[in-house]
This record gives sequence, C-alpha cells and structure tokens, in this order.
Amino acid sequence: MKILVTGGTGYIGSHTVVELQEKGYEVVIVDNLSNSSIEVLDNIAKITGKRPQFEQFDLTEQKRTAEFFAANSDIEAIIHFAAFKAVGESVEKPLMYYRNNLISLMNILQGMIDNRVKNIVFSSSCTVYGQPEKLPVSESSPIQKAWSPYGNTKQMSEEIIQFTSDVNDLQAILLRYFNPIGAHESALIGELPIGVPNCLMPYITQTAIGIREFLRVWGDDYPTPDGTAIRDYIHVVDLAKAHVIAIERMIEKRSNKKVEIFNLGTGNGFSVMEVIKSFERASGVKLNYQIMERRSGDVVEVWSDTEYANKELGWKAEKPLDEMTLSAWKWEEALAKKRD
Ligand code: UD1
Repeated sequence: MKILVTGGTGYIGSHTVVELQEKGYEVVIVDNLSNSSIEVLDNIAKITGKRPQFEQFDLTEQKRTAEFFAANSDIEAIIHFAAFKAVGESVEKPLMYYRNNLISLMNILQGMIDNRVKNIVFSSSCTVYGQPEKLPVSESSPIQKAWSPYGNTKQMSEEIIQFTSDVNDLQAILLRYFNPIGAHESALIGELPIGVPNCLMPYITQTAIGIREFLRVWGDDYPTPDGTAIRDYIHVVDLAKAHVIAIERMIEKRSNKKVEIFNLGTGNGFSVMEVIKSFERASGVKLNYQIMERRSGDVVEVWSDTEYANKELGWKAEKPLDEMTLSAWKWEEALAKKRD
C-alpha cells in the first residue's frame, strides 16, 4: 500500500517514513529539500533496509503536482508535512508563508480529487489554541486568533481541508502537535535545523556540543512554579507512530466522520528549566544558560488533554522526558562525529 509523505525528508516526516516502512507500507516522498538534506534518504534506508521512492519538486507548482498525482494514482493516502514552520520568520515574511503553506495544500487537495485519492493526514499544531483559558487543552477548546502568519496558515489549512472534504469524497485527520523533540534511537535521523535554531531542544544540544555559547532562557518571571514557560514535549517517534495509526484508521474506515481532529501530546507540561535539568541528567553534560527577557509571542503554558486521542485513536505517547532529551543528545553527538 503506497503512502505519499510530503516533507518526508524533514524532521517529523523522516521519522514517520521509518515507522510506515516498518509497518510494511510503501512510501513515496515529495520534498523540495528547502529545509532538509538528500542524505536523509540513505539514513532512512540504513534503519529500515529500504530506500523510499523520492521526487524532488515544489508542491506550490500546480502543473508539476498535477503530473505527479496523475503518474501515481495508486497512492492510498497522504501525510502532508511539507510546510514552512518558523514562527518569527513568518511574521517577517507573511506572504511567503501564506503562499507556500496554502498553495501547496490546495494543489495536493486538487490532485487528490482529480485522481480519487481519498485520505489525508494533515500536520497541524497546538498553536491554533493560542494561550488556552483552560488546561489541559482538549480538541474542543476554542481556536483563538492566530499570533503569527505561521499559526494562521495552520488554522486556514484546517478550514480549507474541512470545506473541501464537505463536498468531495475526502477523509481527513488533522493532527495538532504539541512540542516534538528527540530523535530516532539509531541516531541516524533527527532534527537538522539550518542556521541558528529557534526551538529549545536543538538550541540546548548545540550549546552543549559547543556550537552555541549559551542557551538564552526566554523569561523566568512567568506565573509558573519556577517562572519559566511550560510546554508539552513529545518524543518525535511517539508522534510518528500516531501518523501510522491515523493512516490505518482511515484506510480501514474505523470512523465515519469525514474530518477528525486529535491532539498529539503526552499530557505532561514541563518548564524550560525542567527540560534543561532533564538534559543535564540524561547526558551528564552541564549546560551554559542565561535568563533573558521573555520572547515576544510566547504563550505561558500549554499541555494536552490526551483522553480523546488515547481512547478514540488508540494511541498514547510512551517515552519519558529523559529519553527524549537523551536521544536528542545522541543525535547531536552523531552529527559532531560526522563533522570530525
Ligand atoms: C512554537 C509554536 C509551535 C511551532 C513551533 C515551531 C506556539 C504556541 N508554538 O513552539 O506551534 O510548531 O514553534 O517552531 O506558537 N525557549 C528558550 N530558549 C530558546 C528557545 C526556546 O527559552 O532558545 C523556550 C521558549 O520560550 C518556550 C519553550 O522554550 O517557552 C519552547 O520553545 P520552542 O521550542 O521555540 O517552541 P514553541 O515556541 O512552544
């Protein structure tokens, strides 16, 4: 059974490709390599023994995308990861974000309709909830006005999928991720930020390995127990597994709803300081950090209500924080070895 994974050489995409292949699915990746490297394909093959089919092009090109779908009409389902995701950059370049994230989605949906591909899993984000009034945040919590064009593209994409499926033979599962961190246990794939990382975990590991001088902790005066902001960090492999379950659910028609939404988190909130402590414990490396002003646009705290995903999807995140931070560290060490 053939699954199209857009953005399959990226961070979450590559881990999902591995899980799909290990369950016997045939995978075709489409990626323009704008934020990933072709070597990821070799590393996936080292883990699974199978190199996925790969096509390099930009999904915003309508004609090219239509040709791809026409030539691959045996695709059973799609997991659509390919998108820009840097919150700050999206504020600087809103049109670049709207153009890339929305046009590629529309081209994919058109390709699905024209070629009778019925199932799509979409990468969404807990950012759609903004700062929720009630915690933990469940799937029925209200969507709040987006704080960034990036977040807005996730909200708009969800709506585009919803309205399109209403009038077409399309089923969708929208997965709202909390904060994915960590790497595959093989340390062959992981997060590969280009330039200076924005996200916490790669910044921590790059500081510990000596690429960055110190971690800036954005604010210690939040109304939280230790004053630093709280997130629901989830191991990327747990997250990847949820995608395989979502695909099986659609293919086996376990639900009669056309569009379903699931939160993907662990249900546990950890502060920035707790993540630092976990990293130090797991790696045995002392981290340099300095407390700074709050980062603009950051929410204070958010973590997931996992009940619906646990019961309805039949999925539960299993890996504890120390395993997440240790796997991120092993990946950073593996990258350093390769540079030497
Ligand atoms: C944000 C978005 C999320 C998006 C992700 C991708 C929100 C609510 N979430 O996640 O949807 O998918 O970016 O980029 O908008 N921190 C530091 N120092 C650093 C980096 C981070 O202290 O150098 C802190 C942040 O202030 C935050 C926590 O670590 O409290 C996590 O930050 P980060 O990894 O950037 O993720 P989010 O901002 O939660």
